[in-house]
Amino acid sequence: MARILLGISGSVTAYKGAELAREFIRRGHQVRAIITSGGQRFVTPLQLQALTGFPVPKDQWASEQPDGIDHIYLARWADTFVVAPASANTLAKFAGGIADDLLTTTALAFEGPLFMAPSMNSKMLLHPATADNIEILSSRGVTVLDCEEGELACGETGPGRMMEPVRIADLVETRLAGQLDYSGIRALVSAGPTAEPIDPVRVVTNRSSGRMGFALAAALAERGATVRLVTGPTTLEAHPRVAETVRVMTTAEMAEALGERFEESDLLIMAAAVADWRPEDVSEEKLPREDGSIDLHLTPTRDIVADLAARKGDRIIVGFALETGDPVTGGRAKLERKGLDAIAVNDPTEEGAGPETETNRITLLHADGRTEELPLQSKETIAHRLLDAVHSHLRRNRDQG
Ligand code: C5P
Repeated sequence: MARILLGISGSVTAYKGAELAREFIRRGHQVRAIITSGGQRFVTPLQLQALTGFPVPKDQWASEQPDGIDHIYLARWADTFVVAPASANTLAKFAGGIADDLLTTTALAFEGPLFMAPSMNSKMLLHPATADNIEILSSRGVTVLDCEEGELACGETGPGRMMEPVRIADLVETRLAGQLDYSGIRALVSAGPTAEPIDPVRVVTNRSSGRMGFALAAALAERGATVRLVTGPTTLEAHPRVAETVRVMTTAEMAEALGERFEESDLLIMAAAVADWRPEDVSEEKLPREDGSIDLHLTPTRDIVADLAARKGDRIIVGFALETGDPVTGGRAKLERKGLDAIAVNDPTEEGAGPETETNRITLLHADGRTEELPLQSKETIAHRLLDAVHSHLRRNRDQG
């Protein structure tokens, strides 16, 4: 199931846009429609609302969202954006970056795959201005769909007929199948450090920004998974499509939050930098500095991932390990001891890698002996490459299931 934003612009074939909405819905997708003022001369927002089950704003200024910024909301909501029919005017505006109505403003705010299905008279389609616009859009990664040849509404014959809705739906679905490769997967991700109290203000913790775990949660959500994120203390905000974010402080709280959600998960990615020790006695009162030095007796925390792996079933579990010295040997030992499917190892002493950087470099060790190197890149890109690699485990499970 994908979330499809459907833009309808002014053309006598606007009704085919409505047909396309129905086709997507028949195939189980969610559709929200945006219709230009030109398009509204042929199809009404009310008709589209009845078809899609979602409100259809009449114009940019008649916001449906309480904050009044529909274009940002819609751009974030959608997996893909399909403009059908796309008039010569709409193609020109998209190519020029003009944002003078809800459709064009949303297009500028949208980062995912964009399809445009032109529909117009042959001369308009073949005009150098339109041809240039199509070339500009294509060079930016927009998929401008071919027109069909045939009899046009104006009575002329030639190219310019909008591609049939069923064919458009087929093409969009094929593309989405590649993009939403985690669709139907229930993912549980841990992120950030945990912090173990010494007294009401002091804690024992690990260095961690939470960025790697949040990037993984975001990448999973973008690729269609249902994501639940359990995070230790961090100031980061989860991707808007993460279904649930649970904020915890201690290792015990993280263990409990993950334990409660583990049964209903297909994949656990344990990216949290869990504190390894906790003070055995926690003072209820703030310890006075004036008393001089204190003795802390630290006791090991529960190994969350090892405990969960003991009741793994056919779930996939991916851990992380920060290793100095010989990361691969240390990582492989942890992978085996903890019973994981894969472990992402990095060396925090290396430039650009580790807990508080914006980039990372990872060696991914698989339980079946494979090793993959993910070179130094942003944590967001690393997250996607890691998901590409982890996908082989999900496929194996599906093939066996
Ligand atoms: O043993 P080490 O802390 O290096 O193991 C790293 C992996 O184990 C990470 O995936 C981390 O989230 C997890 N871990 C855990 N519980 C702990 C310590 C680490 O789940 N108490």
